[in-house]
Amino acid sequence: MNAIAGKHIVLGLTGGIACYKAAEFCRALVKAGASVQVVMTQAAEQFITPVTMQALSNRPVYSSQWDVRADNNMAHINLSREADAIVVAPCSADFIARLAHGAADDLLALMCLARPVERVPLLLAPAMNREMWAHPATQRNLVQVQQDGAVVLGVGSGDQACGETGDGRMLEPQELLEEAGAFFQPKLLAGQQMLVTAGPTFEAIDPVRGITNHSSGKMGFAIARAAREAGAEVTLVAGPVSLPTPRGVRRIDVVSAQNMYDAVIPLARDASIFVAAAAVADWRPDRAAQEKIKKDGSGATPTLGFAENPDILATVAQSERARSGALYCVGFAAESHDLLVHATAKRARKGVPLLVGNIGPATFGQDDNALLLVDAHGHSELARASKRVLAQQLVAEIAARRSSTRSEE
Ligand code: CTP
Repeated sequence: MNAIAGKHIVLGLTGGIACYKAAEFCRALVKAGASVQVVMTQAAEQFITPVTMQALSNRPVYSSQWDVRADNNMAHINLSREADAIVVAPCSADFIARLAHGAADDLLALMCLARPVERVPLLLAPAMNREMWAHPATQRNLVQVQQDGAVVLGVGSGDQACGETGDGRMLEPQELLEEAGAFFQPKLLAGQQMLVTAGPTFEAIDPVRGITNHSSGKMGFAIARAAREAGAEVTLVAGPVSLPTPRGVRRIDVVSAQNMYDAVIPLARDASIFVAAAAVADWRPDRAAQEKIKKDGSGATPTLGFAENPDILATVAQSERARSGALYCVGFAAESHDLLVHATAKRARKGVPLLVGNIGPATFGQDDNALLLVDAHGHSELARASKRVLAQQLVAEIAARRSSTRSEE
């Protein structure tokens, strides 16, 4: 489910050193199955040649409104009508200022103005020095162009070509591809607040040792990303994993099951969907030693006692919000055998409308999986696919069930 495949993108380049990243972005778009028509301003041509962009996009590049290649001499109309979106990357401070005023003084500005606003979205990836970005004029213009319907992608922060450090960097090509893809995803969860747990928990034995499990967190992170792309506001409560935070997702890092419980319970009061994808430890050592447990040389081994951790999912599923239908809860199950039997029993025990089983063999850390969905009507399967694709499918399943729950109320 690559939302960018088959789309026709007009990629506009304006003047800025980030033009070199636009070359990579163009390549990534083409690789993802989009067709790309590059349009450059004169300033952009100072940074990268049309020949490079032509080779990468496989199409002649346009830069002048007087281009005689357009039969009717109306390149600005023809090119903007064909597009599924105009993406300006890099988008300079000057171009944002021109857009804010509805200027039409070169081909790219003309196209942005002449595009049918309802049908051809305008996505801007700003790129500029941090002072230019922070300047009140730029910020004012950004507010204006967004009010006029443009979508701003980014910006990033970090080292700048001028040697300064701060906000104003264009997003990296892969981030832009992700953002552009997210833009085209159907907004199945618009207006929803999704809370997701992911990863393992770590239960301390002493300051240097602990008990954990093999959960990679990949499925939960993929669900958080897919939900955000489907329009939800997403909070991700993550156990100890070293995965990057999906763009636009609020992340809260926790360590133990008790930490996760303490983070989740208040957040669940504002959530409309809760997906418990974390592999939460059922037990913790009943007493974590304050100092490292040392060998005493006798060969004697320490004895560990255990205490049961609170059940986060069951607690949330029994809350007033969940029982009234205001909060839709989804649990996960990783079983070693008899998945359907255990998943069905677990769904009833946890009191959740949807229980998702990981279909074996053990999938910890792998990039693909297959899922078993158990709900009040029976069970179905999502066939083996990447966790990214499965997460998108699961989000669609949750959205469909969520809206039917609400229409039954
Ligand atoms: N879960 C939770 N809090 C716990 C234990 C589990 O929120 N303390 C959630 C998991 O995130 C998952 C679901 O409950 O969504 C099932 O977890 P699992 O470990 O498979 O089930 P358990 O209830 O621990 O049952 P068992 O280990 O006996 O299979």
